[in-house]
Amino acid sequence: MRSNIFIVTNLQDKKLNEIKSFNKEDWSSAYKNVEKELTKEPLIISKGENIKDLNGTLLRNGPGILERGGQWVHHPFDGDGMITSIKFENGQPFLTNRFVKTKGYLEEEKINKFIYRGVFGTQKKGGFLNNALDLKFKNIANTHVVKLGDEVLALWEAAGPHALNPESLDTIGLTTLKGVLKPNEAFSAHPKIDLNSNASPELLVTFGVQTGPKSTIRLMEFNNAGENPGELLIDRKDTFNGFAFLHDFAITTNWAIFLQNAIDFNPLPFVMGKKGAAQCLKSNPNKKAKFFIIPRESGLFRGQPSLIIDAPEGFVFHHVNAYEKDSKIILDSIFYDDFPSVGPDENFRDIDFNKYPEGKLKRSTIDLKKKTSELETISEQCCEFAAVNPKNLGLKATFSWMASTSQKLGNAPLQAIKKINFNSKEEISWSAGPSGFVSEPIMVPSEKSTNEDEGFLFILLWNGERRGSDLVILDAKDLKELAVYELPISIPHGLHGSWVKN
Ligand SMILES: [Fe+2]
Repeated sequence: MRSNIFIVTNLQDKKLNEIKSFNKEDWSSAYKNVEKELTKEPLIISKGENIKDLNGTLLRNGPGILERGGQWVHHPFDGDGMITSIKFENGQPFLTNRFVKTKGYLEEEKINKFIYRGVFGTQKKGGFLNNALDLKFKNIANTHVVKLGDEVLALWEAAGPHALNPESLDTIGLTTLKGVLKPNEAFSAHPKIDLNSNASPELLVTFGVQTGPKSTIRLMEFNNAGENPGELLIDRKDTFNGFAFLHDFAITTNWAIFLQNAIDFNPLPFVMGKKGAAQCLKSNPNKKAKFFIIPRESGLFRGQPSLIIDAPEGFVFHHVNAYEKDSKIILDSIFYDDFPSVGPDENFRDIDFNKYPEGKLKRSTIDLKKKTSELETISEQCCEFAAVNPKNLGLKATFSWMASTSQKLGNAPLQAIKKINFNSKEEISWSAGPSGFVSEPIMVPSEKSTNEDEGFLFILLWNGERRGSDLVILDAKDLKELAVYELPISIPHGLHGSWVKN
């Protein structure tokens, strides 16, 4: 694997153009079933040095089963969740991994056959006649993993969380969070950890959405520190007109911000057995996207009604961060020109990246007094999975780290890690190209850090050259490679993760 550190100065940057090519087989070779479950397997360093005094656990979720009995999922997002934990004890990492033993996983594992339809288009064998009118779905618990109170939770937004044993990762089962949730109530896969609230030194803020002709957002704030961690402190419901598809949200000290994309949901092809539910989402150019802005009950505007403000065009899965400035909210998000969906006749392992819109980092300025919003592009380079220092979540941040393409323009697999300085607009990148492929970088501030960019970035990388997974640790300040570990299991391109104290 060749790695590069370089400073991006302009669109003609020579090194960027040199490494823009990639081999699609190197990329798609990551898509295969995870073969085994390991327990506390020590990781051996292959480059750099262990980081002395590093203690904590990296948790990560993503699809681990992509094929059964020769049938592939239609989209990797339909793959059953597999949790990886990498626990650092004084710098030495140990890996444990487990599939989330959901009801659907256990049923399908027994006969090695898909017996549920997937939201992103996976169908049961037997054509549309065998899929029509089958509207049940499998909670695949594959999107995110966080710790709330004493429980590690595997999350999937359309249904309830699965609790796991924090050490062994063995599945305990679906949890109602001590009665907070109704059985299998929708619970977002994008909770925010707020370290800056007066309500608790650490709050886990999250939501569930009940959709229909009217949609209701349930905003929940859990204590996640001190006495009674896991206790629900705040619970608020707001109802909005129309079908809401809300994957992520953002928080500031006083607000929770949701972006309702201008899309329609036509369930007919799903009901008729021809498409997955998510394939029935379609942008509606005649519709206006909306910001739903809900006062946090832990903030200054508790008890006040929510606001609805017209939002810019485009489609957003993920937000980066938000903060308040006078009577405005500044919100950074990854915008796509349209909703990217793998069509019924396409093979996700052989997609033409040029046919799909790329994600671009853009900034919305939402004026709460005038009830308007404006959009500005921060970077044209394709990116995803952007974050700020967790201590700055909800506050103004100078830096953000994200996965990006190696090339400056157009769509391609994510092969680089980029750091942006929002003030100076300077960008630096580290590239795993041409044969390495990155995932979400998880930023962990150093113990006792005083500077915002002091810390580490943890990245699970697909090493296309050796067809295996690596853990890469970068210095968050200069993106210098500090340590690389070759993992004893191969992990497909995945989704989200978090860092917890041991
Ligand atoms: Fe997500």
